[in-house]
Amino acid sequence: MRQLIAGNWKMNGLTESIVEIALMSRTLTTKPAHCDVLICPPATLISHAVQSGAPGVAIGAQDCHPEPSGAFTGDLSAEMLRDCGATAVIVGHSERRQYHGETDALVAAKASAAWRAGLTAIICVGETLLEREAGQAKIICKRQLTGSVPRGATTTNTIIAYEPIWAIGTGKTPTNEEISDMHAHIRICLGSRIRILYGGSVKPSNAREILSLPNVGGALVGGASLNASEFTTIVEFSQPSS
Ligand code: PGA
Repeated sequence: MRQLIAGNWKMNGLTESIVEIALMSRTLTTKPAHCDVLICPPATLISHAVQSGAPGVAIGAQDCHPEPSGAFTGDLSAEMLRDCGATAVIVGHSERRQYHGETDALVAAKASAAWRAGLTAIICVGETLLEREAGQAKIICKRQLTGSVPRGATTTNTIIAYEPIWAIGTGKTPTNEEISDMHAHIRICLGSRIRILYGGSVKPSNAREILSLPNVGGALVGGASLNASEFTTIVEFSQPSS
């Protein structure tokens, strides 16, 4: 299966930032990637990004509400995201779990909503530093997978992102052995070939190594996805289909 290099812009980007997506697309047109490429800008930019048309770069969202519509001020449904051209949505990112108190059950409901709307759900799991130091990382991730991945997950409707919380935005990454070990564990928990992305301080300097590890089906990139040149360098390090 092809790897996926996905960019999560988080709460960054104004209209002018669309140019970065255009630049990514231009680079990928001259040097086609052997992976899938997705950018998840803030919801305010999804329509604009889709309408500006950037061949080779799919556009996704960062969160959705479980319901298709209703009295939920400020929220966006998966159907709305699909309607403006998104093809995927990240659910259960640790920043949503931490700052919005999202539980595994809510994340599972959001993933089901994504499927209902025809979006691929990118479901995030990952342990804190304390949990890793206590030797609990695998137990925590297994528990999150059990609670957050609904029945019916397939290689086309679901992608898992393993993002150790202590590696997000810190410049720290687990060792290659730790990444391989956790991805193998997640593979066993899932019991299927669903892609498992690694996320947390992926950058041009470590992408080649990380993307060549077994069971790593791509990367979820935060900070380094805001810049077209850094992001396309990471894309170049993706591995051909296995
Ligand atoms: P980072 O973020 O690459 O900036 O560490 C990754 C993420 O939160 O998805």
